[in-house]
Amino acid sequence: MSSIENNAVPVITIDGPGGAGKGTITQLLAKRLGWHLLDSGALYRLTALCAQNNDVLTSDEDQLKKLARHLDVRFVPGNTGEPTLVQLDGVDVSDAIRTEACGERASQVAVLTGVREALLQRQWDFRQAPGLVADGRDMGTVVFPDAPLKIFLTASAEERAERRYRQLKEKGEDVNILALLKEIKIRDERDMNRSAAPLKPAVDAVTIDTSGLSVNEVMARVHELVEDRIEFL
Ligand code: C5P
Repeated sequence: MSSIENNAVPVITIDGPGGAGKGTITQLLAKRLGWHLLDSGALYRLTALCAQNNDVLTSDEDQLKKLARHLDVRFVPGNTGEPTLVQLDGVDVSDAIRTEACGERASQVAVLTGVREALLQRQWDFRQAPGLVADGRDMGTVVFPDAPLKIFLTASAEERAERRYRQLKEKGEDVNILALLKEIKIRDERDMNRSAAPLKPAVDAVTIDTSGLSVNEVMARVHELVEDRIEFL
């Protein structure tokens, strides 16, 4: 199904740089509304992991395009409170795609137009009734430009590095906050300056700076916007 055929289904797009809180807010909002969820970053991470498993270089656009088009992926929603399982070729890769190294490779394959085009249809397929909350970098600008509500979440690089540091520490990973801050800045730079679908707010997006805000405070603001913009709620 193309995006045109199912565009009666409402979409809320949540874009922004890594660590701005998109994942948490997208999950809470999708759950509260009872809508579907698209974690588009996972698709770029899966493409990067699949490339690594098949010894394909992150610069080999032709091969990466084919891998992206034919990814054998399943998102298996967990029971209440449990995260969604991600399977690649039938293998659970939920943890493997969340490492910093995989995120870095994902951002390298994401600069390639061929890869982005190959993942478009897969993203449009998530647009199913009663609605979709889509998390990414170009959800409001490229993938769902007709979304009735577009949110751009941001936060200072320092705050994002601190959040990421706490998350990784909780998982027992040995991390250095200064190295994380440096990686975040490099990734932001690449995401914002690539020619294909660069990270930027859509002209009609509402930007929320989450620096210093709690999850509840951000959700309250998001909820106000949803009530204001999504007609039938
Ligand atoms: O959001 P997440 O950190 O999982 O995304 C990993 C990388 O995938 C990002 O740094 C970005 O380069 C890329 N990405 C993208 N477009 C999206 C989602 C993610 O380019 N819609």
